Amino acid sequence: MAYTRKDVSALTAGEKRRFVNALLDLKRRGEYDEFVRMHIEYYTSDGENGLRTAHMAPSFLPWHRKFVLELERALRRIDDAVTVPYWDWTRLRSARSVPWSDDLLGGNGRSWDQQVTTGPFAYRQGHWTIRENVTDGRFLTRDLGRARDPIDLPTRAELDAALNDPVYDVAPWDSTVTRGFRNKLEGWGTGRGSASWRTHNRVHRWVGGVMLGGASVNDPVFWLHHAFIDLQWTRWQQRHPGVRYQPERPPTPGTAQYRRVVARHEKLPPWDVTPDSLEDVSRIYRYV
Ligand code: CU
Ligand code: CU
Repeated sequence: MAYTRKDVSALTAGEKRRFVNALLDLKRRGEYDEFVRMHIEYYTSDGENGLRTAHMAPSFLPWHRKFVLELERALRRIDDAVTVPYWDWTRLRSARSVPWSDDLLGGNGRSWDQQVTTGPFAYRQGHWTIRENVTDGRFLTRDLGRARDPIDLPTRAELDAALNDPVYDVAPWDSTVTRGFRNKLEGWGTGRGSASWRTHNRVHRWVGGVMLGGASVNDPVFWLHHAFIDLQWTRWQQRHPGVRYQPERPPTPGTAQYRRVVARHEKLPPWDVTPDSLEDVSRIYRYV
């Protein structure tokens, strides 16, 4: 039977504790850092050569769907009552609201070095030393809302603009496309500075600290954010029945995107799955 993923603001005290404990256990075993490493490895951008799977590509959604599923599977091996909750940042918009509480993810970083000092993932607690990073930082960092140059989380209206796009993605299937649900949700925009960070990307910016780069998985809010992004894919499918993942077929030899993006029936590295097989996961989990 399918299990459920819940709104993080609806978790009971016991559910929060079990989720946190499963994460800490995974970290202690060294498995959590393998997820961090994988995300750093798959952080290929438009400007680089080779296949783009996780970002700036149509498979942004199925790649992260599979990634969250794998983490969730690992957590459920530890405690089968645990699922990944989602953070609806259109509603939970403050640095003082859930999930930034001491019984869940802890709060903001302190002003001078952004170090998170509260909650179970604070460095001083001794259970969350960062070992895989794009810098030499060893502690979890955050700068919620960006104290020196404040930005807001994306709004419901911005999210709706993505959900209302009736096309999944369009050529050239990268960070420059201005049409299609995928990039409107992933959030690579035109212009300079904070205006160019939209929706999914803007949330990474708003949290700040380790959430800014390839090592963003080091902040457990990564999973809550990506569960909510994953939920948007399901909502988009419900809004546009029968509309599918694009591209359906691989770009042909001689075109700029040849061997750079994953088509609907191609394998999505590093796994043996296709975007097609990840479009409907309702038999595995559903959102409440
Ligand atoms: Cu990612
Ligand atoms: Cu992300």
